[in-house]
Amino acid sequence: MPPTLPSTRVLAFTNQSGGAGKSTGAVTVGAWLAKYKLKVLVVDLDAQCDAAAALGYDQPDLLDNQPTLYDLLIGVKGVTVQDAIVPAMAGPVEDPASKTIDGLDLLLPSVELESVEQLLTGRLIGREMWLRETLAPVLDDYDVVLLDCPGNLGLVVVNALVLATEVVACVKPGWKELRALTRIEQTIDRVNESFGPNGAAPQFAWILMSDAPTKRTAGVVYAEAQEQARKAYGDIVLPAVRRSTRVPESYAAQQALPFFDLTAEVTADYAAVVKAMGFRRQK
Ligand SMILES: Nc1ncnc2c1ncn2[C@@H]1O[C@H](COP(=O)(O)OP(=O)(O)O)[C@@H](O)[C@H]1O
Ligand SMILES: [Mg+2]
Repeated sequence: MPPTLPSTRVLAFTNQSGGAGKSTGAVTVGAWLAKYKLKVLVVDLDAQCDAAAALGYDQPDLLDNQPTLYDLLIGVKGVTVQDAIVPAMAGPVEDPASKTIDGLDLLLPSVELESVEQLLTGRLIGREMWLRETLAPVLDDYDVVLLDCPGNLGLVVVNALVLATEVVACVKPGWKELRALTRIEQTIDRVNESFGPNGAAPQFAWILMSDAPTKRTAGVVYAEAQEQARKAYGDIVLPAVRRSTRVPESYAAQQALPFFDLTAEVTADYAAVVKAMGFRRQK
């Protein structure tokens, strides 16, 4: 019997380097999907905690009695995955004026995730399965799970790929950046060879190009870099996200773009991305 397709779509935002738009992508896509009335979980797998910061939680380790993904990894007694999940915020959690985002949850990271690679490497059995096993109890609670990966192709990312149904390769425009996609493809192939038959094999599904310089011709925004990528990869190249100062500004405000500036062009670019991925607003 062919494996049944999981009903939860799990998207891993990956690239082997930092500054590729992974965290911005995961957070902004997550915020749009919540606005579309889907139930969404963002999992911040990076010790830099950027996705958590953008969703209101700048320093998860300083929160009182609040477990994080790290506690799950080291197996703190009595801590469940549900305990490490918090509602995403449209603003810093310390600010009483900040509201929660309906439909959007966050699995809290920790700066301690720095040591995850070592901890996992030391495990004899199942070290690629840790994330899949950890998230199994909550997967059915969500329509979509978004995995914000660290900027490498190490064991944490392999864990993300084992869990993912779709991989979103994040790149900034440029020839060198596009070349990096080959390594991501190879890693996915290897994960599929080793783990594919037992579950849903991750697909190299999308290429998300952000921070793209644009020029206007007769009112039409044209992203040259996107054209280049489309020649090589075809339809899996998502509509490009333009360069905009609103992105770093929204980071500083700790607000996801659709809550920071709903009418900005760059916010609309991400709406186009979400549509191209096949998501629709729920009634
Ligand atoms: N469309 C954009 N326009 C301008 N700056 C951007 C854009 N997308 C991302 N950035 C900036 O680039 C940096 C890296 O983005 P980020 O999403 O954190 O990448 P990663 O998670 O891959 O390291 C951040 O400072 C972010 O504000
Ligand atoms: Mg990041």
